[in-house]
Amino acid sequence: MTEIVFPDGFLWGAATSAHQVEGHNVDNDWWAWEQAGRVQTSSGAACEHYHRFRDDFDLAVSLGHTAHRFSIEWSRIEPREGERNDEALAHYQDVVRALRERRLEPIVTLHHFTTPQWMAQQGGWTNPKVVERFARYTEWVATALGHDVRYWLTVNEPMVFVNMHYVQGVGPPGVVEFRSMLRVIEHLIRAHAASYQVLHRAGPPGQIQVSVAKNMPVFLPCRRWWPLDHLANWTTDRIFNTAFLTALTEGRWVVPGIGAWRIPEARGTLDYLGINYYGRQFIRCRPETGQWFGASCGLEHHYPHDVNELTGMGWDVSPEGLTTTLLRGAKLGVPILVTENGVWVEDDARRWRFIARHLAALERARQRGARIIGYLYWSLMDNYEWSHGFGPRFGLVEVDYATQARRPRESAHRFADVCRTNRLDARAIPE
Ligand code: FCB
Repeated sequence: MTEIVFPDGFLWGAATSAHQVEGHNVDNDWWAWEQAGRVQTSSGAACEHYHRFRDDFDLAVSLGHTAHRFSIEWSRIEPREGERNDEALAHYQDVVRALRERRLEPIVTLHHFTTPQWMAQQGGWTNPKVVERFARYTEWVATALGHDVRYWLTVNEPMVFVNMHYVQGVGPPGVVEFRSMLRVIEHLIRAHAASYQVLHRAGPPGQIQVSVAKNMPVFLPCRRWWPLDHLANWTTDRIFNTAFLTALTEGRWVVPGIGAWRIPEARGTLDYLGINYYGRQFIRCRPETGQWFGASCGLEHHYPHDVNELTGMGWDVSPEGLTTTLLRGAKLGVPILVTENGVWVEDDARRWRFIARHLAALERARQRGARIIGYLYWSLMDNYEWSHGFGPRFGLVEVDYATQARRPRESAHRFADVCRTNRLDARAIPE
């Protein structure tokens, strides 16, 4: 393989999410969490993207992108229960129009980790009412944008959301007990299903494509010689990866050792599969955590034996894992869109190396039959990385938070060559 040629019409671009870039999302639970001092840094003005989106999209176009993923902030559309904010809806219509004018295919997420504070005060995702409320919010958005958007993502990384917010407690509301956590997952499945129907009803027939953005790590047992780590690993993979997706394809949700439930309305609600991929995770049996008995371990003691490279987040780098994940996703029989893949590293040359090696891995999955329709890098620009604040810098574009100046990194230019030519010279991929 000397030159990789991607298919015609392949979608190239980057992703963002509302709370991480817009600034002043004062009506959601994350803002309240920040104000309550539960994290060191508040999102504040973030990247002021709410006002600068046109300039940011100009940048994306100048970097060869043909698609752009962003999220709509539910708490802007519905700042108080039942109150539809038409100004906010008009704002997102402007956003989609700005994308279309620049020939950037919009890929729209409806829920990316943040929930309106009024909903959070009523139990958030543990409250069954969240399903109909999410459907109503979807209805408002779909009525405003349904004819201009083809690709939808109902929920970003449902299982990471559950893990961060309801298991680890590094986001609102903080830890809950096991039963509530299961209820949250069930409500996410039901909310996705309801939203799926609304989107299809509102959009032009046969045009609308709906998925979730599914974070799909490759899980491995931490201690290969320890059977309980294998069991914890298998169970984690089932709950995190298989169970959620099977619920959306077959309408059956199976939690090993706990139970199986039929959720018929969720059956057949994946038109394509959005995959977020960052790396592998090693799972250790840790019954004392009191939640599920497996937990991801720190990678220090795997490095440099099992793990060749760590990112600034301390995450594993494994392009091979992307091939595995894409082939696994392909078994569902729907096209795949890589909705996130990215890295924070101090040395930008390593970012380009990360991207190039993951694109080669994507190509290997294509060669073996996976239907992949695009690749979106996380993220277009540096932004608010949740409980980590503004320290991690994932952007193709560097943001100077004091002045809000943007500066594309060298890796952005290298990636732009791929986007523009639809080709990657395999000999130019750094070792
Ligand atoms: C993903 C999230 C995204 C961002 C990246 C680094 O899990 O979807 O918001 O935080 O990780």
